[in-house]
Amino acid sequence: MAQSNTILVLNGPNLNLLGQREPGVYGAGTLSDVEKLCRDYASKSGFEIDFRQSNSEGELVTWLHEAETVAAGVAFNAGAYTHTSIALHDAIKAISTPVVELHISNVHAREEFRHTSIMASACIGQISGFGTASYTLALQALIGHLK
Ligand code: DQA
Repeated sequence: MAQSNTILVLNGPNLNLLGQREPGVYGAGTLSDVEKLCRDYASKSGFEIDFRQSNSEGELVTWLHEAETVAAGVAFNAGAYTHTSIALHDAIKAISTPVVELHISNVHAREEFRHTSIMASACIGQISGFGTASYTLALQALIGHLK
């Protein structure tokens, strides 16, 4: 079991608008509903959640660097940066903390530009398409990996 009992849940651009943003794709739940879901799920296994969202690629890079010292693992919904960001790929490669990529929607069943994840090869795995349950599935995968 990892030394830290904190899991960092990182959220990228536009995820602050969950609940009002394309509810047909992302559902009616807000980001604070997702945060509560994550805290409740993780506490059952003795983990705490550090839950963050940023619309800025650089801030997400900085938080990944911090993860090395503050977190046992990272569950990461990078939003659209998933498909564009070499910087996030490199930041994940630069740390030894395991990172699980996650998506609310099934990115492979959507537009072609969402089919490629630049960060996937740097992550331990990817969860996609289960609505906000993708967050708890990512935590389950991460906790299983850590134990
Ligand atoms: C998303 C999928 C991405 O393609 C999109 O840009 C998002 C959200 C998801 O959770 O389904 O912002 O990561």
